[in-house]
Amino acid sequence: MKIERKASPKNAKKSSRIGERKQAHLDLCLEEDVSAAERTTLLEEVDLIHDALADLAMEEIDLETRWLGHRLRLPLLITGMTGGTAQAARINRDLATLAAELGIAFGVGSQRAMDEDPDLAWTFDVRREAPDLLLLANIGIAQARSLPVARVQRLVEGIAADALCVHLNLAQELVQPEGDRDFRGGLKAIGKLVRALDVPLVVKETGCGLSGAVAERLRGVGVRDVDVSGAGGTSWIRVEALRAPEAAELGEVLRDWGIPTAASLLGARAAGLRCVASGGIRNGLDVARALALGASIAGVALPVYRRYRADGVEGARAQLRAFERQLRTVMLLTGSRRLVELARAPRLLGPRLSAWQRFFSRAPRGARAK
Ligand SMILES: Cc1cc2nc3c(=O)[nH]c(=O)nc-3n(C[C@H](O)[C@H](O)[C@H](O)COP(=O)(O)O)c2cc1C
Repeated sequence: MKIERKASPKNAKKSSRIGERKQAHLDLCLEEDVSAAERTTLLEEVDLIHDALADLAMEEIDLETRWLGHRLRLPLLITGMTGGTAQAARINRDLATLAAELGIAFGVGSQRAMDEDPDLAWTFDVRREAPDLLLLANIGIAQARSLPVARVQRLVEGIAADALCVHLNLAQELVQPEGDRDFRGGLKAIGKLVRALDVPLVVKETGCGLSGAVAERLRGVGVRDVDVSGAGGTSWIRVEALRAPEAAELGEVLRDWGIPTAASLLGARAAGLRCVASGGIRNGLDVARALALGASIAGVALPVYRRYRADGVEGARAQLRAFERQLRTVMLLTGSRRLVELARAPRLLGPRLSAWQRFFSRAPRGARAK
């Protein structure tokens, strides 16, 4: 599809500011400690039960799954990270090509820069390299609220994506000195997009997780798929605090803010949504634990990015292959031949995760929903 709108000098200036911020994000995520400080995903509180008599052969383990109507060879997604600069374009192309080779899904980062300067479309466009890839477009909730549906549709079509992620990043915006302060109308905008778009919509957080009540509200406007992106992995509050000295004090206090990934999964599953488990997924055991809690697939951002920057595509490939090996091993050790069996595998939940589970399943509506 051709994007006709021409970039005005004003748009170009705005998009170069976004480009600078995106570059700072990439640099900080590479060089600094950008993870939560004390907060964990709580996936460590999911004990899968060892089956010493598993009646299975490794070659029988089947990791294939379907997500958003596409077949995946592994239940994994490289979640949206970047776009808008020449370096970002290379990262997108390399990681998208790798995702296609491994049979996993891939998301581009926020396409706001592309909306403001359509000449930047090439930095998000990976279709030529990966014609069969399950590819996710990406916009922020601010763009979902302000852009006409046709312009959002153009961002999706402009990169021939199969689905659109709308990311929620309230905490990040509030810590950013230049960030948004008015978030009214977000849910309504999401509902409008779900109805109008001709591709599936995935609502994703960016490291602060989703509560059961938020999941219910999303379901109420027609959302069926979320990426919980819970707390315990990359902290965007921390990233913003490192980027701007004015954000340091707020960022320090709120670095660990959010709902842990495992708790978010329990809340969103209780609300009946299909889930990507992301936020702090760091190995194949994390993936297995998340799938056992009902996630359809797991998503990874920071570790893949860092490994790619350190060791290129080969490094990222080795890392994702290690995730696969670890997941296969845990499946055998739990007697799960297929992913549906892993989802039913016996497990014991620790006290903190159990408390979240009780909260999401029993708390009176008024205590959970606004
Ligand atoms: C360098 C970098 C850039 C990111 N940019 C975006 C973005 O543009 N849009 C988005 O929805 N999420 C973005 N994220 C958030 C990730 O998709 C993910 O939700 C979050 O980092 C938690 O996963 P992790 O702990 O595996 O990093 C970015 C993450 C990283 C590391």
